[in-house]
Amino acid sequence: MALVPPYIARLAPYEPGRSIEEVKRAYGLKRVVKLASNENPLGPSPRAIEAIRSHLTGVNRYPSGGHDLRERLAREFDVKVANVIVDAGSDGIMSNLIRTFLCDEDEILTTEAAFGGFQVLARSRGVAYRTVPYCDWRYDLKALANAITERTKIVYLANPNNPTGTIFTRHEFDEFYRHVPERVLILMDEAYFEYGRHNPRYPDSMHYRYDNVITLRTFSKVYGLAGLRVGYGFAHEDLITHLHKVKLPFEPSGLAEVAAIAAVDDREWLHHTLELNARGMRELMERLPSFGLHPIPSEANFVMVPMESPQAAKAMFQALISRGVIVRNLSGFGLPQCLRISTGSDEEMAMLFETLAQQVHT
Ligand SMILES: Cc1ncc(COP(=O)(O)O)c(C=O)c1O
Repeated sequence: MALVPPYIARLAPYEPGRSIEEVKRAYGLKRVVKLASNENPLGPSPRAIEAIRSHLTGVNRYPSGGHDLRERLAREFDVKVANVIVDAGSDGIMSNLIRTFLCDEDEILTTEAAFGGFQVLARSRGVAYRTVPYCDWRYDLKALANAITERTKIVYLANPNNPTGTIFTRHEFDEFYRHVPERVLILMDEAYFEYGRHNPRYPDSMHYRYDNVITLRTFSKVYGLAGLRVGYGFAHEDLITHLHKVKLPFEPSGLAEVAAIAAVDDREWLHHTLELNARGMRELMERLPSFGLHPIPSEANFVMVPMESPQAAKAMFQALISRGVIVRNLSGFGLPQCLRISTGSDEEMAMLFETLAQQVHT
């Protein structure tokens, strides 16, 4: 259609994981579990639910645009409010980064098969999008450093990475950073930070405080608030000031903001979530191989399983979904031969393994 530029005409939209209700209807199932979108199976903290309840009657008023949450996060992470941005999910901040920092001739550099949400946002701007291959399913930071050109403006790094679950180490990042010119913005996507941080080799990008690094995190994963859409970022105050010029003024919503503030305060819930996740990850790593599935060791709340072919991945996806277990097909990320499986509650994990056992024996 002549109304849109060619890069929009050929853009495929981001495809989210299938919902439980949709799958129940499509396959006539009573019980369906979703292990497809790296959500928190426990749900949000009870304190967050209480905060939402007590603010429901105030939804006739416009929200503050995240001011109270910025203050809470600044205190939590010992930075100035001017260094913090909050928005409708870390996707919202990524979208603003793309609008704020890129000119037509700039290019974006990242790994092949990066997080699908970022791929779509980046390609929607019509600038060059260049990638380098993974090395053993990990970001190849040496190759990325070598691939930086005069035109490179944003380098996108997700750590832990989605969909592989792998991390790059502090040592690898330090080496990489030495090769990055100051005019290049490093977008550190730490959506799975709370899961990865316990590895002593994990580089918490907040400790660096470099002027050309922005760290993005989210309330969608460990905090269980994916449905409310709230994420946050830290960077040099000049960078945050520019982002605020293009940010929609009333994001995140008021309910998302009060829920996020309450969620930060509930350390017990966080601990509980991380414990459940550690158990789920152990089970996935130990039990999947007996079904011929070999997950890549992961530092997040999901594992990626490469299969022998796209057909094999599709067949496994179909077999599971038709029996009520939704996992993630990674075609949209550019890895049609791989599946991704998130951790679930103990009951959900049991259903995954029962279903795999039925599938193997039919
Ligand atoms: C690496 C990564 N970044 C960002 C996001 C988006 O998170 P949000 O819900 O905060 O927009 C996700 C969600 O799956 C993700 O995996």
